[in-house]
Amino acid sequence: MEGGEGRDPVRRKGIILAGGSGTRLHPATRGISKQLLPIYDKPMIYYPLCVLMQAGVHEILVISTPRDTPRFEELLRDGSEWGLNIQYAVQPSPGGVAQAYLVGEEFLSGSPSMLALGDNVFFGQGFPEVLQASCALEYGATIFAHCVDDPERYGIVEFDDVGKVIGIEEKPNQPRSHYAVTGLYFYDGRATELVRSLKPGPRGELEITDLNCLYLKDGSLEAEILDHSFTWLDVGTHDSLLLASSFVEDFQKKRGVKIACPEEVAWRMGLIDDAQLERLTQPLLSNGYGHYLRDLLTKG
Ligand code: TTP
Repeated sequence: MEGGEGRDPVRRKGIILAGGSGTRLHPATRGISKQLLPIYDKPMIYYPLCVLMQAGVHEILVISTPRDTPRFEELLRDGSEWGLNIQYAVQPSPGGVAQAYLVGEEFLSGSPSMLALGDNVFFGQGFPEVLQASCALEYGATIFAHCVDDPERYGIVEFDDVGKVIGIEEKPNQPRSHYAVTGLYFYDGRATELVRSLKPGPRGELEITDLNCLYLKDGSLEAEILDHSFTWLDVGTHDSLLLASSFVEDFQKKRGVKIACPEEVAWRMGLIDDAQLERLTQPLLSNGYGHYLRDLLTKG
């Protein structure tokens, strides 16, 4: 189902930010990271991980809390079984989304990057192609906007008549548009240096909106609109977690295909061969996830 050809020509590196406090999901997240909770049949972090894979990004840094980083490592290991190189770094406390660029400085070493929030789910036909096009841009930043009913809860993008970004505001009281900035960002190699110049905002955090504003000022920020044929879920509350699980269950059962199955994405993108998919399938054969992988091999 998912996949798409193409390798990233600029060797972009990926970051999944999977820390934070998860207070809106307490008490469910008091003992476990939000991004390890399941969305229907797989851990939440599989969803952004597959987005990075579909973009053609294979060198990935997972950033989480001191408590949870070892658990992500236990789940994803070094990524080699899926043809990836996954590394880990600790964010000592939730200092803001843009802080990912300070924590990840050594890993990035000046490379262009793609940052995905660990609690965002994206789904849509043609999404891999959209991602791969953004990946190929060496200069500037690309963000993705989606129309929402409650813009005051998000970072909001304002466009002019020809679709050029003219403003971005974080959780405005009087939003100038309904286009929310989603949790997926592409930046050129200047991101870490630019984050260094940021001051913490009113929440005491290094705000990703402030980094986006620097690219906007520089004239190098693009915002792609993901229209209503795309699903975007920001999974931060009990209701949105349930909604996301129901969406995935419903889609998978109706269509007979999985959303965000890393084994499948790796296989379809040629990162692993049939023999490796078979090896990954064996320990999972006691449930429907394993049967799905087995059927990929037998039925294609
Ligand atoms: P949020 O949803 O803004 O924050 P949170 O996950 O801590 O949740 P809550 O508001 O319920 O306390 O974070 C968005 C994503 O970014 C989420 O995946 C967590 C991650 N994040 C970090 O890893 N480090 C940070 O410093 C922040 C602010 C967020």
